[in-house]
Amino acid sequence: MTRRTCGALRITDSGTNVELDGWIHRRRDHGGLIFVDLRDRDGITQIVFDPQYPAFADAEHLRSEDVVRVCGRVRNRPSGTENAKLATGEIELAAEQLEILNRSLVPPFQVNVDENADENLRLEYRYLDLRRPRMQRNMTVRHRIIKAIRDFFDERDFLEIETPLLIKGTPEGARDYLVPSRLHPGSFYALPQSPQLLKQILMISGFGRYMQIARCLRDEDLRADRQPEFTQLDVEMSFCTQEDVLEIMESCMRSIWLRVLDIELPPFPRMSYADAMSRYGTDKPDLRFGLELVPASDVFTPTEFMVFKSTIESGGEIVAVRYPGGAALSRREFDALVEEAKLLGAKGMVWIALGADGVKSSVQRFIEERHANELALRMQAERGDAILLFADARDAAFAVAGRMRLEVGRRCGLQREGDFRFCWITEFPYLEINAETGKPIPAHHPFTSPAEGEWDLIESDPLRMRAQHYDMVLNGYELGSGSIRIHQPELQRRIFDMLGMTPEQIDAEFGFFVRALDYGAPPHGGMALGIDRIVMLACGEDNLREVIAFPKTQTARDLMMDAPSPAPAEALRELHVQVKP
Ligand code: AMO
Repeated sequence: MTRRTCGALRITDSGTNVELDGWIHRRRDHGGLIFVDLRDRDGITQIVFDPQYPAFADAEHLRSEDVVRVCGRVRNRPSGTENAKLATGEIELAAEQLEILNRSLVPPFQVNVDENADENLRLEYRYLDLRRPRMQRNMTVRHRIIKAIRDFFDERDFLEIETPLLIKGTPEGARDYLVPSRLHPGSFYALPQSPQLLKQILMISGFGRYMQIARCLRDEDLRADRQPEFTQLDVEMSFCTQEDVLEIMESCMRSIWLRVLDIELPPFPRMSYADAMSRYGTDKPDLRFGLELVPASDVFTPTEFMVFKSTIESGGEIVAVRYPGGAALSRREFDALVEEAKLLGAKGMVWIALGADGVKSSVQRFIEERHANELALRMQAERGDAILLFADARDAAFAVAGRMRLEVGRRCGLQREGDFRFCWITEFPYLEINAETGKPIPAHHPFTSPAEGEWDLIESDPLRMRAQHYDMVLNGYELGSGSIRIHQPELQRRIFDMLGMTPEQIDAEFGFFVRALDYGAPPHGGMALGIDRIVMLACGEDNLREVIAFPKTQTARDLMMDAPSPAPAEALRELHVQVKP
């Protein structure tokens, strides 16, 4: 009797005696026989209980998710009853002995189907949810990707060095999670938003090539692609150029896709930030489809349509999006699309339908045949398409048109699963304006080097300065960011100064780091990729929670453990923490 797994048995095993351990996936009684699908991580095997064996009596009481051990003889399934969907579908196990190792309560949702369970229930009973084949597959892919990453960097002489979780904050633009110190009343550790400063210090320490599968924690507003705790592939190299970093990170992704998904990726196209914004209205374009944005103000100059007229006069832009087949929409459907555009941030939307029976528009009076023809030519639009127009301040018009481009792509089924379009975005502006405060902040982080030859702009025109900063993008998601760093202490101080930090603030927040730069810091640069996002896209999922074993909800709760939760008064006293209601 040999012990096998539930995905292992094949027709060549027929006639052997085996033992299988697993969970009851499904049970069916018919024709005097009991059929059970037995499941473990490896797969599913059909077990048949025949009344001639004593095991039959116990099998009658088996329920979903009971844990059992079955011994019996492997045999071919009767001809015509094979299941081509299962790897074990040609055989079954004729059970002779059954041992019930443990019983299960009735699960709060069906474990043997992947769909239709309420997500809060799934998270509360995560152990059951993780038993589902889809989750087992996702966790396996995650493991394989991380293994492929470690192998890749090991083969290229990188060292994995762990950095601490209790640190002084590293700024990545989010709020820190703070941990009160028991031994130092009133003082706090910060949990790392990333290992940024520590990996730079490792370069100063002469390690040359560092990588880490690093846990990061950020207290920020959550979305489908953001978790408060997440994992980065964190990389840093000394004496490197931007080209060196792009080469190694791109090779790494190509290697993962080949080793794990068996897909050969073409070289990643590159695009400047400015190009991406004007062609796609975003710095993370989904390149699975074209439908590039087209500026159209000149087509409508002059116009009597007030919205367009005032936009053009105030220096704004009219941006056009092509909607293939969109002319078939009814007026009511167009009205709904306008409402959707508003939810995406549009002030309004003008549509032009290039129908077989002529041009129609939401502002029919102002749209002349020549407008439609010129736009159609410029956008390579055809009869049957619609053109959607957004008028606003330049950046806002491109941004909202970019969001509508994605919606059109979704409606037209252009975001094909299994299609992986990576790209690089380069030449970012150094600063961006913080939407909440209106103040300029680094688009990446303040340790990023300004573009070569643009250092004078630090004092004269910082908003025009570009950064040696690059992003890797896949199918509309930012997978990662990196930069060539500042290694000259003087330049670092000038950047802090530009950001309005006083010498005292610099010393309090980053004194240790600026001091380290004073002791022979080598030129260096690096990057971090979000592993959760990589795995999510590789698995064809659209939420990070599907690829993290124990994720948090949108409101940062762990529903299984019920965290966060109040701490005992005694613990708070020891930590010198007082909670005010
Ligand atoms: P950045 O802040 O851009 O750069 O983060 C790099 C990548 O980490 C992933 N990521 C997240 N994933 C899930 N949930 C989150 N809350 C979250 N936040 C970020 C994204 C992102 O692109 N130290 C720099 C890197 C460097 O310069 O080397 C950094 O952390 O995929």
